[in-house]
Amino acid sequence: MKIRKVGVLGCGLMGSGITQVCAEAGYETVVLEVEQRFLDKGFASIEKNLSRAVEKGKITQEAKAKTWSLIKGTLNIEDLKDCDLIIEAVVEDLKVKNEMFSKLDSLCPEHTILASNTSSLTIMAMAASTKRQDRFCGLHFFNPVPVMKLVEVVRTIATSQQTIDTCFEFCKSIGKEPILAKDNSGFIVNLLLVPYLLDAIRALEQGVASIEDIDKGMVLGCNHPMGPLTLLDFVGLDTTYNIANIMFEEYREKRYAPPPLLKKMVLAGYYGRKSGRGFYDYSGEKPVPVDLGI
Ligand code: CAA
Ligand code: NAD
Repeated sequence: MKIRKVGVLGCGLMGSGITQVCAEAGYETVVLEVEQRFLDKGFASIEKNLSRAVEKGKITQEAKAKTWSLIKGTLNIEDLKDCDLIIEAVVEDLKVKNEMFSKLDSLCPEHTILASNTSSLTIMAMAASTKRQDRFCGLHFFNPVPVMKLVEVVRTIATSQQTIDTCFEFCKSIGKEPILAKDNSGFIVNLLLVPYLLDAIRALEQGVASIEDIDKGMVLGCNHPMGPLTLLDFVGLDTTYNIANIMFEEYREKRYAPPPLLKKMVLAGYYGRKSGRGFYDYSGEKPVPVDLGI
């Protein structure tokens, strides 16, 4: 099946990146948000990325203008009804996601493939809210989307081979490297990454070392591009808290349980880079570790 028009649900951290890479690859792309200010925020991030690419001579002004001409923002779900592929990237909440999928299932034509970018929910828990389980899969991108090469294509027990083949082709066409994953909570990468990130918070809670030294340890000791606490701020502590709760609920294993410090930080509105404060404070020129009273 040929994908011509792509729909994206949510224009946050992930949805804005997915919108950008789809349009850059030449797909007409419609992105849905709940409020204009969230569309504006996502579009500002796309503009920043494209302008930086022009400044660095990686793309031309014309290519930038062409990308923008293919992007349409909307607050009306009806505008997605003629999309061939719809990629959901709204908050990590099954109820919110399923409300959208069941609306789209009745709105879209037979051939439309519905996909979720969820980090931790099983794809079947969303596919079950539609009558197109064979045309439903996971397309799990990584943050920051324009930079990270990987997409996990997730096959449920009901996803058809044709859907998987179409999604593999689609991922390659937007310059990504697809890998096939089974529909287990966390798929491949988050199954391994999430316990590591939560362990870093537990290490901080237990007073093993300071925020800076935990990060420095993994950057200089293991050559990771970011330390775990910087990465948590980058992913979003609100999103990580939801992911941990979902994975703990699924596996009932302590290593997925959200540490109390993570919960407290989310309650305090410390969501990481997106709110200006997490393990680090981002209000100045350089991130500064926050005094969490530990
Ligand atoms: N958005 C778009 N592009 C970005 C970006 C962003 N937020 N941050 C950096 N870039 C681009 C830069 O423009 C630059 O591009 P060029 O090479 O074309 O010039 C390139 O990335 C490198 O940037 P920098 O030199 O400024 O910074 P860096 O070398 O420190 O790299 C990074 C930045 C790519 C983010 C790197 O630190 C990194 O790889 N961090 C780890 C990211 C990671 O682990 N992501 C996975 C998160 S988990 C997840 O996504 C799954 C889930 O379900 C939670
Ligand atoms: P985010 O909070 O940055 O963005 C979510 C966006 O969804 C917000 O802008 C919100 O306004 C919008 N939204 C909420 N309800 C909506 C609705 N009914 N219709 C349209 N838009 C709606 O979150 P994010 O980090 O982009 O995460 C989105 C999804 O991607 C989650 O499922 C998350 O688990 C997954 N994910 C996140 C990362 C990451 O590093 N943050 C990486 C991979 C996957």
